[in-house]
Amino acid sequence: MSARILYGKEFAAKIKDSARLEVEELKKNFGVTPGLAVIIVGENPASQVYVRNKHKTCEELGIISKVIALPEDSTKENLLETIDKLNSDKNIHGILVQLPLPAAIKAHSDEILNRIDPLKDVDGFHPENVGNLVIGNPKLVPCTPAGCIEMLDLAGIEIDGKNAVIIGRSNIVGKPLFHLLLARHATVTICHTHTKNLPEIARQADILVAASGKPALITADMVKSGATVIDVGINRIAPKKLVGDVDFDAVKDIAGAITPVPGGVGLLTVAMLMKNVVKAAKLQLED
Ligand code: GUN
Repeated sequence: MSARILYGKEFAAKIKDSARLEVEELKKNFGVTPGLAVIIVGENPASQVYVRNKHKTCEELGIISKVIALPEDSTKENLLETIDKLNSDKNIHGILVQLPLPAAIKAHSDEILNRIDPLKDVDGFHPENVGNLVIGNPKLVPCTPAGCIEMLDLAGIEIDGKNAVIIGRSNIVGKPLFHLLLARHATVTICHTHTKNLPEIARQADILVAASGKPALITADMVKSGATVIDVGINRIAPKKLVGDVDFDAVKDIAGAITPVPGGVGLLTVAMLMKNVVKAAKLQLED
């Protein structure tokens, strides 16, 4: 039997519709138009595509979008100063620094990200937001793992009581997703590069999430029959060929549901960012 294919487009459209409605309500009830500022440093082509996509989606939903393109040779001080200005700008509710930063300032990434007002931290990377997530009081949470949960919910796939296995322990995906699944009462395991018996652990999963950055790491023998497989990987294996972390063609015959790459859960990331901008605007209304 072949798995149900979870296409991101239909889920992303639903999330964006709900964000659009919330934007209209904020305008009507409070006279507030949510605003997002994205800072991009240098000319990384992939980052430029992502930033353009965020800008376009803001415009679609009636969110104010400000893209601040800084030169490749910007200093840490230039960035901190830019963030300080946005922190005190009443028309900006969300601030995002597009990663990765250029090599010359990459080592300062944490200091730069931590300068963002936690109430405007729509990436959910600030230690205060990370801490709130860990203690079970989430405010702004990272968009990609939040998109995984939203996709499961919209697809009607139960999380409560299920065995979830995440492959990858990044701060952007693996670790926050661990806490989001735990909060939904899954039994959660994280595997990583030092895990000894990866296939055996992966086969226990009712929900298997691949976020390792290794093409075709997840083969058919690592998947339980009927499992839900979410592929967060985006690996460019040729100039125009993107693949995930899952051997899609083989795994689709074993899994119960599976996300493709491209066209899968990645499409929900920008939609969740829009939800976070709306949420940030609401948190600032309460503040
Ligand atoms: N670059 C790749 N993914 C992300 C993300 O989630 N947030 C930011 N700011 N930059 C990224």
